Amino acid sequence: MIPVTPLATDRPSTLAGEISERLNAAIREHLLAAFAPDSTKVLRKFSASEVAELLGVSGQFMRKVHAEGTVPEPDEVRGGRRYYSAQDIWAARDILEGSSRKKGRYVPRRTGDEQLQVWQLMNFKGGSSKSTTTIHLAHYFALRGYRVLLVDLDPQGSLTSMCGISPEIEFDGLTIYDAIRYDDPVPMSDVVQATYFPGLSIAPSRLILSEFETESAVHSNPDQPFFTRIRNALAQVEGDFDLVLVDSPPQLGFLTIAGMAAASSLIVPLTPSMLDVSSTAQFLELAGAYMGVIEDAGAVLQYDHFKFLMTRDEPTDIPSQQLTSFMRALFQDRVMSTTALKSTAISDATMLKQSIYEVVRSDMTRATYDRAKGSMDAVGREVEQMIHQAWGRS
Ligand SMILES: Nc1ncnc2c1ncn2[C@@H]1O[C@H](COP(=O)(O)OP(=O)(O)OP(=O)(O)O)[C@@H](O)[C@H]1O
Ligand SMILES: [Mg+2]
Repeated sequence: MIPVTPLATDRPSTLAGEISERLNAAIREHLLAAFAPDSTKVLRKFSASEVAELLGVSGQFMRKVHAEGTVPEPDEVRGGRRYYSAQDIWAARDILEGSSRKKGRYVPRRTGDEQLQVWQLMNFKGGSSKSTTTIHLAHYFALRGYRVLLVDLDPQGSLTSMCGISPEIEFDGLTIYDAIRYDDPVPMSDVVQATYFPGLSIAPSRLILSEFETESAVHSNPDQPFFTRIRNALAQVEGDFDLVLVDSPPQLGFLTIAGMAAASSLIVPLTPSMLDVSSTAQFLELAGAYMGVIEDAGAVLQYDHFKFLMTRDEPTDIPSQQLTSFMRALFQDRVMSTTALKSTAISDATMLKQSIYEVVRSDMTRATYDRAKGSMDAVGREVEQMIHQAWGRS
């Protein structure tokens, strides 16, 4: 236990410092107790029916390719049931792709002149589900055979901790800050790390990233102004990925704007509440003004897609449904046709730093799980269609 002594109350600066110190020590202790000594995240195994769904084949087809020996049996077979690791799924994709007549049927990676997709999720309204949507999209795409890079632009590092790296405790490695800072930046390839989730890498974040806000305000490097720095960092690792998902902080600062300048598409998640809708209007007014400023300074902004996503949607809540209809009436297909449903399955999973894809179905009430996963899948599928459209596949 941390000794509880009275806090200084005389000077606000001392008080804030003391509160922070006590909180940090408590968090460290709590997290260490909760996750250590073995604090590494491990991805669960997937059932045969899940794998068939992910590969877009039937259960019968999977049994056939195992019987023929085309695809090796997974290491884990219990009571006649097969359990696959995400690595097994990636390996099966490669094998099946090799013998498939239709190119890209099992390995959907970009080819030829299909451009790297950089999707930024942004809104300065805190809690609009930016990070939750980002991690679900990341897992959706990585499980389907895309090479995904997460860029955590929030100094709070929520996404970083969902990837099994705890910015609050032991993590003192390189962050995205190191690749975009003004003095002596490091190569982006040193910053990007593979995660426990096959197909998913991250450029992590921690508090130091907020230095970029301060430095950008005083630096004027005409060769590499602030809005080029994320784009340049991504260009260094471009060949390794199909999709980059950028999570942004709940503010419209230099980081968010530099992300916007690197993005090829934008998603503005918002919850169907009057407060969110009106703050989103302000956000876009400001974002528009800043986009104009950086365009005047030479940035070329061009988005394949610029969409709203209604999040924490509650189909039984009439006022929120009215607001969603209002947004659709105003902006038609600029509002994504799928919504992310509000679900205890999602909030329970994120409490454990997991996405719904990491939860085993039998660990939850089935109907709750199915509804939440169905909703996240639908959002992922709609984004996947937009990506294919940007690649000229459909
Ligand atoms: N579909 C959902 N159903 C239920 N709860 C959700 C859902 N999406 C997000 N939440 C919950 O809402 C809260 C805020 O979500 P999240 O952290 O993703 O928002 P954010 O926009 O990233 O916030 P911030 O602005 O602080 O970065 C979290 O506690 C999360 O668990
Ligand atoms: Mg967030």
